[in-house]
Amino acid sequence: MYLILFGAPGVGKGTQAKILSSTLDLKHISTGDILRTEIASGSDFGIKAKALMDKGELVPDELIADVIRLAINDALNYNGFILDGFPRTVDQAKLLEKIVKELKIPAPALVILKGEDDIIVRRLSKRRQCANCGMIVNLSDLAHKEICPTCKAVDKFIVRKDDKEEVIINRLKVYRAETRPVVAYLEDKLKTFRIDALQPVAVVTQNIMQALK
Ligand code: AP5
Repeated sequence: MYLILFGAPGVGKGTQAKILSSTLDLKHISTGDILRTEIASGSDFGIKAKALMDKGELVPDELIADVIRLAINDALNYNGFILDGFPRTVDQAKLLEKIVKELKIPAPALVILKGEDDIIVRRLSKRRQCANCGMIVNLSDLAHKEICPTCKAVDKFIVRKDDKEEVIINRLKVYRAETRPVVAYLEDKLKTFRIDALQPVAVVTQNIMQALK
């Protein structure tokens, strides 16, 4: 199965991609996570990406192209992939079409998670990620704010640099201008499902699984 999980920053793409990839044995390809790994390694690529990501701007398509080719090639060892954060521009969507054709893999389904800006800003300002196991949580859902519910690590939560309110607002602006047009480009070409992302996490997962059946 090949999926694109699409939607605004903070709508829940990463949360759902983690659950679905482990349930369906799909490779989770998050371009944001790949870029953050590059930043942590201190590579030239990471340094270029960091300056843009910290402001909530997109990394140029030509830098993303090599990253996504490598990741999709790697995914050939799995039952498929879930793309999280790619494609983010119409040119990236065209690149994906080209890669799918070259590798002769089935066209992915497009799953659009739909949310509202005020809820997204609230979610992102309370998002934390466990540095130990990678689990994404929301502080408002935790009984013990310092303990990871998955691996039980204490005081390991980190806040993403781009989760400051002014950067979130710019990310939403960039999404509307550069990323949302991808839907108009792809929806007539791919099987497309629209899912209400304002439901609880488990309900969103269930609705995606139901749609994909
Ligand atoms: P990226 O890492 O892809 O970030 P994003 O798209 O902005 O999305 P987020 O990771 O912020 O949110 P999400 O939708 O995954 O939500 P999450 O599940 O975490 O990209 C970061 C940057 O990298 C970009 O700004 C850009 O600079 C660059 N970049 C990446 N890809 C690129 C590309 N292809 N081209 C160019 N540049 C690129 O959930 C958010 C919070 O909500 C969490 O706290 C979670 O616990 C909570 N939550 C989730 N679902 C629910 C629910 N149903 N109910 C209640 N709470 C929920």
